[in-house]
Amino acid sequence: MLETPLAIVHYPDPVLRRRAEEITEIDDETRELAAAMIEAMVNSDGIGLAAPQVGVSRRIIVLSPTGQAADASVHINPRIVESGGDEVEFEEGCLSFPEVRGIVVRPEHVTAEWEDLEGRTFRAETEGLIARIFQHEIDHLDGILFVTRFGPADKLQAKRRLKKLEEEFAVRAARR
Ligand code: CO
Repeated sequence: MLETPLAIVHYPDPVLRRRAEEITEIDDETRELAAAMIEAMVNSDGIGLAAPQVGVSRRIIVLSPTGQAADASVHINPRIVESGGDEVEFEEGCLSFPEVRGIVVRPEHVTAEWEDLEGRTFRAETEGLIARIFQHEIDHLDGILFVTRFGPADKLQAKRRLKKLEEEFAVRAARR
């Protein structure tokens, strides 16, 4: 049983660095997880959320480019099958890294594939913000932290804040 509302896991929780597992069976638990993830994303004013960010190491993401529940979509086993266009700079944030922001360079266009909650396979050519969210969230499923994609200046600027998050994590871990 899921404990809802789901709590967002913060850096440096090790679940964020793990490669999440493929979902082979879409069952009630998957559907409950998806609904709870949408709720957690919307409540946190996020536009994307990956299951490892709620402590579940499985390949499912939710996104909503407007941040509204009505625009949210669920993507199971999402993968980038093609990318192209210019490499573009964009400032990203992440719910697992409160107050950390930095420029990440990514391809402008990606073609993504995924399954929906009925197990149907979809493919879409995306660009702009949606392409950005897909890439950021799929990175989470592969255990890739967005700060590792920062340039040297943003890495340096994030350093103190990351140190603070590491200290907060150590305090919480000691309490458990
Ligand atoms: Co993120």
